[in-house]
Amino acid sequence: MGHDARMASIGFLGVGTISEAVVRAMCARPGMSDDIVLSPRSDDRSRRLASDFVQCTRLDSNQEVIDASEIVVLAMRPQQLDEAIRGLNFRRGQIVASFIAGTPPSDIGPLVAPAGPVSQIIPLPAITLHRGPLVISPAVPQVVEAFAGLGDVVTLEDEATVRTLSCASAIMSTYYEMQNALIQWITAQGIDEETASLYVRSELEGLAAVGKVTPEEQRRGLPGEHQTRGGLNERVRERLLREGWFDTLVETMDQVHRTATLR
Ligand SMILES: NC(=O)c1ccc[n+]([C@@H]2O[C@H](COP(=O)([O-])OP(=O)(O)OC[C@H]3O[C@@H](n4cnc5c(N)ncnc54)[C@H](OP(=O)(O)O)[C@@H]3O)[C@@H](O)[C@H]2O)c1
Repeated sequence: MGHDARMASIGFLGVGTISEAVVRAMCARPGMSDDIVLSPRSDDRSRRLASDFVQCTRLDSNQEVIDASEIVVLAMRPQQLDEAIRGLNFRRGQIVASFIAGTPPSDIGPLVAPAGPVSQIIPLPAITLHRGPLVISPAVPQVVEAFAGLGDVVTLEDEATVRTLSCASAIMSTYYEMQNALIQWITAQGIDEETASLYVRSELEGLAAVGKVTPEEQRRGLPGEHQTRGGLNERVRERLLREGWFDTLVETMDQVHRTATLR
C-alpha cells in the first residue's frame, strides 16, 4: 500500500501481541485521526491492521517506518532489539517510545542515536478496553499525548522506579488464579459453572470499580468497610491475615524486585 510523503505521527517497529492491542485501542479512541505506520513484521498482523483501519499503513521496511514517523515505537522482544535496529538510521530530535521490558531509556538512547528523547512505556492487556495503568517514563509530552485515552497514564520521572511498577504488574496471573479458585470452589458446592463464573467475575468487577472511584483518603478504610464484626468477610480476611497471605505477597514482591532480570 502506498504512503504519501506526509509525516506520520507514530510508527511501530514490531507488530506483535502488544502492538496490535495498542494500535486497536488507539484506532478505537474517539476523535482518533493520527496516522499510524507499521513495520512489515509480523506479516499477518500488520496486513490485518492496515486493512481494518484507514489510519494504519503497512510499510515495506523498518527504515521506511522510521523515516515516516515523528514518534517511533520499539515493540519487539528484548532479545530481538539489537538485531531489529542494527543499521537503521534515526533522525536527531525524533522521539522514541519503547515497550521493551526491563530496558531503561538510558540503555535505549545510544542504540537509537541521534534520536531522542526516549520514553519507556508499559502497556498492560486491559489497554484493549482503554482501562488500567499505562506507565510512561519519563513524561515526554508528545508521547503522553500520543498515548492519552488508552487508560490511566502514570508518569515516572526517575527511570529506576519503573522497575518497581513492572514488578507490581506481576500480580495479573495471581489475580486470575484467585478468580478461578473461587469459581471452582462454588462449582464444587454443586452450583453450575456458568452461574459461578458470572457471580465471581461480576463481584470482582464491582469491587475494582468501587476501589477505583473511592477517594484516596478513604482507600485504606475499604477492607473495614466491606466487613461486619463477626461476619463472613471478617472471618475470611482475619484467617488469611493470620496465615500470612499478605506478608507472603509483599515478601514475594521484594524477592522479584531484587532478582528480576528482564533483558
Ligand atoms: N505482551 C505484553 O503483555 C507486554 C506488556 C508490556 C510490555 N511488553 C513488551 O513489549 C514487547 C513486545 O511484546 P509482545 O508480547 O508484543 O511480543 P511479540 O508478540 O513476540 O511481538 C514481537 C514483534 O516484533 C517483531 N519483530 C521481531 N524481530 C523484528 C525485526 N528485526 N524487525 C521488525 N520487527 C521484528 C515480531 O515479528 P515476527 O512475528 O515476524 O517475528 C513481532 O511482530 C516486548 O519487549 C515486551 O517486553 C509486552
